[in-house]
Order: sequence, then C-alpha cells, then structure tokens
Amino acid sequence: MISIDSMTSLPMSFQTEPDADELTLRGAFEAWLREAVRVPLLHLRLANTLSMLEHIGSVKIARTQAGNRITARTLRHLAEETRHAQVLKRIVHGIDPGAAPDYDDRWLLAGPTARGYFARLDASVRGVTRGMAGDGGEAAYLLVTWLVELRAAWLYPVYQSAMDDAGVRFSVRGIIGEEDRHLEEVEEAMKRLGLAGDISLPGLLHEERSWFRRLATAMMNDAGRDLPDASAGDRSALGAFR
Ligand SMILES: [Fe+2]
Ligand SMILES: [Fe+2]
Repeated sequence: MISIDSMTSLPMSFQTEPDADELTLRGAFEAWLREAVRVPLLHLRLANTLSMLEHIGSVKIARTQAGNRITARTLRHLAEETRHAQVLKRIVHGIDPGAAPDYDDRWLLAGPTARGYFARLDASVRGVTRGMAGDGGEAAYLLVTWLVELRAAWLYPVYQSAMDDAGVRFSVRGIIGEEDRHLEEVEEAMKRLGLAGDISLPGLLHEERSWFRRLATAMMNDAGRDLPDASAGDRSALGAFR
C-alpha cells in the first residue's frame, strides 16, 4: 500500500523516486524554459498553450461535475481553473496585445499534442476506474485532477523561476498557491474514497509521465517554427530538442 504523508501532501514513495526518464525530461524542459521566456513570441505561445490547457481542464470539470450534486468546493475549483486560463491569457496579451486572439495552432506550441494530453489522461484513468465499485465517475474526476495537479505543482514554480531569472515581470504565484490547495483537497478526497493507497496509482503516474514527456518534447521541437523575433542561433538552440 502507498501511504500519503500528510505533512507534505504528496505520496512519499513517488515524491522521492521520479524515474530516470522523468528526471531527464525535467532537466531538459527547465533548461529550455529558461531560454524560452526570453524570446517574446516563444513565451507568448508557451503561455497561450498553458492557458488552453487550463481552459480544457475547466471545461472538463464543468462538463463532468455539473448538476444537482456539484459541491461548493468543486464550484470554487472550476472558477479557479477558469481564472488560471484567463491569467495566462493576460500574460499572452501583456507580451503582445494584438497577438493570439484564440487558441489556433499557430499561437500554440504543439497544439494538437497539447489537446491530446487530457484525452490520453482520461483514457489511462478510465482503464483503472472501469473495474471500480460504486461511483467510478467521482474516482475518475479525482484521479485525473490528482495527476494534473502533481504536474502543475512542478511546472508553475519552474515557470515562475524562469521568468524571475530572465527579468520577465509576469507572475503566476496566485496560480501556484491555488494549485497547491487543489492538490491537498484532491488527496483528502482520495483518502475519503479509499483511493489514496490504490495499487493502480504508480501505473497512472507512469502513464502521465509518458504523456507529459510526449507533450513537452513536442513543445520544445515546435519552438523553432515561425520565429521572426529569434535569430538563427536562437532557433536552433530553442527548437532542436530530441
Ligand atoms: Fe489550474
Ligand atoms: Fe488546479
């Protein structure tokens, strides 16, 4: 059984053992991010992609949780995910008010792969919850949310630190605080539903890591496309991850 450490809110066995592939990917993505936020058009496409992912997440909550039984906590979660999309869109328009009026692929990094990330997570989680007794719908909602919040708990602090180091003035600190609380809340709910020690969790984490690796690699590879602001050197340094 996996025990959730209430002091850290993360399952210790996972927190201490990201596998070698995950560590390599994190290192490469963090290094790339530090450069990407220095190139305005690239930063704009990155923030627009994150905004779209938040929007997809909020629409997914609305679609799957709407109805008579929706709780105050879920309403707040929905409102916050919707605002995260808006905060990131404000960063996009802070970089260039006339750019990215929408989530068209030309304003995104690896748009089709980004849209596929949630669909792949859903499929992974469905494979686990299908055999569960009781309300498989709530379990599916919690597990997808848990995977996404764990990813966000790494990604947004890294993004903020890259912006700080580059002297870029935008802040996602509000998002970081809210994602931390979402992670605590979802882990509490998982405990209540008896999911916290489920034997399927390591497999799900492994699958999320492989879906995110696919997305992050596609984003880094897509970064070299259509960069009028970047020099040829920028282009090869930023868009040639393999
Ligand atoms: Fe969010
Ligand atoms: Fe969240």
